[in-house]
Amino acid sequence: MKTRVCIVGAGIAGLSSARHLQGEQVDFVVLESTNYVGGTWRYDPRTGKDENGLPLHTSMYKHLRTNLPKQAMELYGFPIPEDMPSFPSWKIYYEYIKAYTKYYNLYEHIKFLHEVTLIKRKDNVWQVSYRHVITNEHFQQEFDYVLVCTGHFSKPNWPDIPGQATFRGKIIHSHDYREPCEFKDKRVLVVGAGPSGMDIGLDVAEVSRRLIHSHHLKVNFRTPFPSNFIKKPDIKELTETGAIFVDGSFEEIDSIIYCTGFEYYYPFLDESSGLTLDPHHVTPLYRYMVNVRQPTMLLLGLVVRACVVAAINAQARYAAALVVGNFTLPPEEVMMKEWQQRADAVVAKGRPFSDIHLLAEKEDQYYADLSAESGIDRVPPVLFKIRTLDTEAKLENLYTYRDYVYTIVDNDNFIRRYEPPAQKECCGP
Ligand SMILES: Cc1cc2nc3c(=O)[nH]c(=O)nc-3n(C[C@H](O)[C@H](O)[C@H](O)COP(=O)(O)OP(=O)(O)OC[C@H]3O[C@@H](n4cnc5c(N)ncnc54)[C@H](O)[C@@H]3O)c2cc1C
Ligand SMILES: *[C@@H]1O[C@H](CO)[C@@H](O)[C@H](O)[C@H]1NC(C)=O
Repeated sequence: MKTRVCIVGAGIAGLSSARHLQGEQVDFVVLESTNYVGGTWRYDPRTGKDENGLPLHTSMYKHLRTNLPKQAMELYGFPIPEDMPSFPSWKIYYEYIKAYTKYYNLYEHIKFLHEVTLIKRKDNVWQVSYRHVITNEHFQQEFDYVLVCTGHFSKPNWPDIPGQATFRGKIIHSHDYREPCEFKDKRVLVVGAGPSGMDIGLDVAEVSRRLIHSHHLKVNFRTPFPSNFIKKPDIKELTETGAIFVDGSFEEIDSIIYCTGFEYYYPFLDESSGLTLDPHHVTPLYRYMVNVRQPTMLLLGLVVRACVVAAINAQARYAAALVVGNFTLPPEEVMMKEWQQRADAVVAKGRPFSDIHLLAEKEDQYYADLSAESGIDRVPPVLFKIRTLDTEAKLENLYTYRDYVYTIVDNDNFIRRYEPPAQKECCGP
């Protein structure tokens, strides 16, 4: 009997997994709850529920351009078009994902509108329950492997700020941010300084009267922020009409956008999966993805602070190599130890345990390790180097870091030149 593989989700992780299982002696299916590929890269102007009553998965906003140059977002073996801008809009990058899906005939493997509702370990197999989201017909099927590719930028992490319920203006989470129009001439409070907080803050500041940015990140942003952009520390309390900050200052506010991140959310994973699930971390995972207690289950794409697409794609290739038997995993104790060492390091540094998913400076070594173990082609070191310089450029100026054009010379080297756009679309200060 052929190995049976269930891939849950048709975003970049699910699609790359399918692509690399394609043509192997494996029976696989991709179950996707929406009617689309590309997951979070598909912009949807709506918020709330979709046409089938499911919570909208995508967190994409209209003006998003990638925060990494295109070279760092290439899917293995499928060259990024020469004429693609260096930092494409979501729209252009989404076309690339669709082209990939079509080129490898992946559509025929995807069961669209099928939502996975329960994954259980029973009698040494995975029992996967799923339903058709329109007809509500239920199915159950057995699999040898499960690749969980459902993303983790969908379920908002809501802060609990005193006075939140008394605030009379509108509060949204970045998951529901689509475009700046509704904030025109308003006084808007953006909370959080992650990638979305910075990006959405600048997007809204283009039209808002004031943009109050509250965060505690101790990073020296050297961006020349416009005069309507005001930095504040953490919020102490919200009132009916505004916010009091921990430094005692007060600001009148019309609307709030929480850019406070997302939760890991796997409502379909039964306890028998052996994973410990927390909104801020999923453990224990060997190599950031293999479920140590049930190593025929892999969770892709949980890594943060990395060239996420390259990392996900390498994980998909590793997963495929594992499934077809190109390598075998070490015994459970060894896998547990690899995880434990990383866990200990996070604790020793006094960092929040969510850092267990952080690649950051370990990114390049991660690629080396994945390849050494599984035999997959290594993600070249040049990508890590590009990301490092891109991060520097962001600190320098959030308005201009996307004006750099990167050219890869070889696996270790690249060149970068500055090419300001002829006509600046976004007017800045
Ligand atoms: C706003 C935003 C900007 C980003 N910008 C960049 C960037 O510039 N560069 C970069 O490298 N990365 C970026 N990322 C990271 C991005 O998450 C990854 O690039 C990548 O798209 C993640 O792919 P994924 O397949 O893991 O998840 P997703 O794209 O989230 O796909 C998951 C899929 O699983 C499906 N699904 C979920 N639950 C179920 C279920 N129960 N049953 C069936 N199907 C289900 C969903 O419908 C979805 O199609 C960004 C993310 C966000 C949110
Ligand atoms: C498994 O290894 C063979 C031989 O190196 C290779 O041709 C094949 O692509 C690999 N398969 C996967 C899914 O990695």
